Amino acid sequence: METKIFRSTTEDIKKAATIIKEGGLVAFPTETVYGLGADALNPEAVGKVYKAKGRPSDNPMIVHIAEDEELSQLTDTITEDMKILMKNFWPGPLTMVVRRKPIVPDVTTGGLDTVGVRMPSNQTARQLISLSATPIAAPSANLSGRPSPTTAGHCIDDLTGRVDAIIEGEDCQLGIESTVVDMTGNLPMILRPGMITREDMMKALGKEVLLDPTLLQRPDIFNNEGSLKETGDDFKPKSPGMKYKHYAPKAQMIIFQGKRQDVERVIAAEEAKAKEEGKKVGVIMYEDETFAAHDFFAKLRAFDKDGTQLILAAALDEEGVGFSVMNRMFKSAGYNIKEV
Ligand code: TXA
Ligand code: MG
Repeated sequence: METKIFRSTTEDIKKAATIIKEGGLVAFPTETVYGLGADALNPEAVGKVYKAKGRPSDNPMIVHIAEDEELSQLTDTITEDMKILMKNFWPGPLTMVVRRKPIVPDVTTGGLDTVGVRMPSNQTARQLISLSATPIAAPSANLSGRPSPTTAGHCIDDLTGRVDAIIEGEDCQLGIESTVVDMTGNLPMILRPGMITREDMMKALGKEVLLDPTLLQRPDIFNNEGSLKETGDDFKPKSPGMKYKHYAPKAQMIIFQGKRQDVERVIAAEEAKAKEEGKKVGVIMYEDETFAAHDFFAKLRAFDKDGTQLILAAALDEEGVGFSVMNRMFKSAGYNIKEV
């Protein structure tokens, strides 16, 4: 398949919208990560997304809308809490899991009776959705298992020849995927942490926001293929996407957790040792959690490109956005964590 490269001009976005309307696939920028979009209401088009990504088809997709009113096309139940979160955080990096209407095909929701909905703030994304005149189902635009793409170059690397078009927009401002919050229970529950934190939502809602308990587990759960181990399987995240091995770099990756000073010392020693053994080593050590979010996936891809064999990473404090970044870091390392 020939993959067209578009710019984020209105003229090109119109062409991209035509592809979506005709059931094709377009990778496009959002403020979180690049998405791989298809008409969310066209089962055949959505089916192609799983194929292009090499993604398991029980993993539901986020449906992207451009205007508040489009939410009622997808769900019958719009609660007061949902209205408050929309008002505070849309457009932006928040996905709400809501009851779905029958118009949303099974293939889009992985057969669930709920659907994840998000209104991105990125202008190119908004324009694409509006001009397509349909909600757009879009997972991150990476091959399944690879780090999420935060630049057009990452999409070109992964998806050339597999999709109809890639919109070459700006680098993603935020760099980690949206916060996913389940709105179908008595209290909202975070299924995937992101830039909008639990504290942000509790403040807006004036009530408790729960965390899916699996977000606090550090299980030894993955076999070598990145699937859940058959035995001892008590790890059942509510967000199906959370159970697959994600974001994995080609290198072995170790996370060091402890006082920053000690971690720095241990990483320096490990780095020297590995270099002596002739290994190509990469170090990840962030001072700032917002920059960490922006940079982390791009860094993993850069290490893959230059043949890095071992990645030594310093853990961030698991608070606020730091908690969300660490969620990705732990997965990338297959929960290979050393306390120092
Ligand atoms: O920032 C983002 O959310 C990006 C951009 C493109 O918008 N998209 C993204 O999509 O990260 P994806 O498919 O890579 O991740 C979607 C996550 C998965 O963990 C999936 O299991 C969860 O959201 N999810 C989607 N719909 C769900 C539902 N109905 N119930 C529970 N989890 C759901
Ligand atoms: Mg993804």
